[in-house]
Amino acid sequence: MRASTLELVRNAQDHGYAVPAFNIVDEVSLRALIEAAEAADSPVIIQVSLKTARSIGVDLVGAMFDSAIRGTSVKAALHLDHCPDLAWITKVIDARWSSVLFDASDRDFDRAVAETAQVVRAAHAVGVEVETEIENIVGVEDGVGSDVLVHSYSPESLVQAAEDCGADLLAPQLGTAHGEYSGRPSLLPGRVREIRALTDKPVVLHGGTGLTQAEFRLLIAAGVSKINISTDLKRTYMRAAHKFLIDAAERDEWDPPSMFRSVSGAVRAMATHYFDLFGSAGQASGSTRA
Ligand code: 13P
Repeated sequence: MRASTLELVRNAQDHGYAVPAFNIVDEVSLRALIEAAEAADSPVIIQVSLKTARSIGVDLVGAMFDSAIRGTSVKAALHLDHCPDLAWITKVIDARWSSVLFDASDRDFDRAVAETAQVVRAAHAVGVEVETEIENIVGVEDGVGSDVLVHSYSPESLVQAAEDCGADLLAPQLGTAHGEYSGRPSLLPGRVREIRALTDKPVVLHGGTGLTQAEFRLLIAAGVSKINISTDLKRTYMRAAHKFLIDAAERDEWDPPSMFRSVSGAVRAMATHYFDLFGSAGQASGSTRA
């Protein structure tokens, strides 16, 4: 059964850990994450960028997800990452994914809040949850986003907006960026604490790739309970494939399933590292709200 994103993340919030949310790129990465989550007894959020949803198709992603979790004990939610496009949000809500991120950070404040409220109404009517982003997190991910800060608001305005539109999870600027870091980011754990003091809505950290163990721990201790990882999965996947292909060329042996096994092993190891680091390992069996 598709898990509720909110339920997984609230359990993390109550118990002081964070649920990793990985952006899959295909069926190999999806299955690797589910297998790693089962082995680690960790909840997991399977995220799909709009680019990947467009290329695979909303129905096929849903069918792959359901097939991957069938017969397992994994608590896994299916989430649409950054989507500024109302038509695609509607498609995913109609397909009953666990949750969607309506990315309204390219709109001005009033329009962002009004459109998010409209998405929340449609989503909640069929049991789908909504992550809200109205100030942009720097960096372009799979064709969505901007390299400059376009909109920033006070914690009070952000929380008020999330309360007014009824969104379930809140993605604020926390000093991180999507993609690789060229220098060290100036993280904002104080901003997490300020937001958490104003609302019970879980806070989401974007731009996880490249943070140090100490930085992750600092942000989790401040109150972040969902952490997004995309670039590291792509990098891990492609490096494993690249290494395999170099060896394949040397041996002159061309067996795609062997390459998928190699890629899957690398993605599983990456996921296991984050389950341990974020404290989610061992938490799936007890993941109902305290
Ligand atoms: P990274 O690509 O930096 O890991 O960020 C992922 C993310 O925030 C997806 O929304």
